[in-house]
Amino acid sequence: MRSEERTFVAIKPDGVKRGLIGKILERFENKGFKIVGMKLLQVTPELAAKHYEEHYGKPFYKRLIHYITSGPIVAMVIEGYEAVESVRHIVGATSPIKADVGTIRADFAQIMEYNVVHASDSLESAAREIGLYFKPEEIYDNWQSMLEMITFDEERYNG
Ligand code: CMP
Repeated sequence: MRSEERTFVAIKPDGVKRGLIGKILERFENKGFKIVGMKLLQVTPELAAKHYEEHYGKPFYKRLIHYITSGPIVAMVIEGYEAVESVRHIVGATSPIKADVGTIRADFAQIMEYNVVHASDSLESAAREIGLYFKPEEIYDNWQSMLEMITFDEERYNG
């Protein structure tokens, strides 16, 4: 059974400043994912605190808030088959040293503090993070991606 999901992805300030927006976006577009929300924005300390509330009190927390508010990010809502897990594979492990070769973090980052991208780690976090960064009217899914046009249409097959 196909399972369409939505996940939240952010190109962090280091990715934007290094001019990697296009190269990172390309990875998700190549995979066939549908980008249904996207914007450049400056994360405020308040928004950063909400986004990373689970890390509050950890040794790296202050540096993380400083980093994510140090310049604009590109926030995205990505839709596709098992998108949460699939996007995490493309992004790679949190530590760029451990990330598999070919993943974004392995290819573009060296250290955990500057790991270029963020991707939701579960469906629950995805829903929460999408809600933090996007209003419902900022998500546009009333169009068909090329992949949706050509992939298996179960309803028509069964009918
Ligand atoms: P991200 O996927 O955005 O989720 C939380 C972020 O905190 C993570 O990427 C890193 O940028 C950062 N982070 C997580 N663990 C550590 C750590 N041990 N040291 C420094 N930064 C970390």
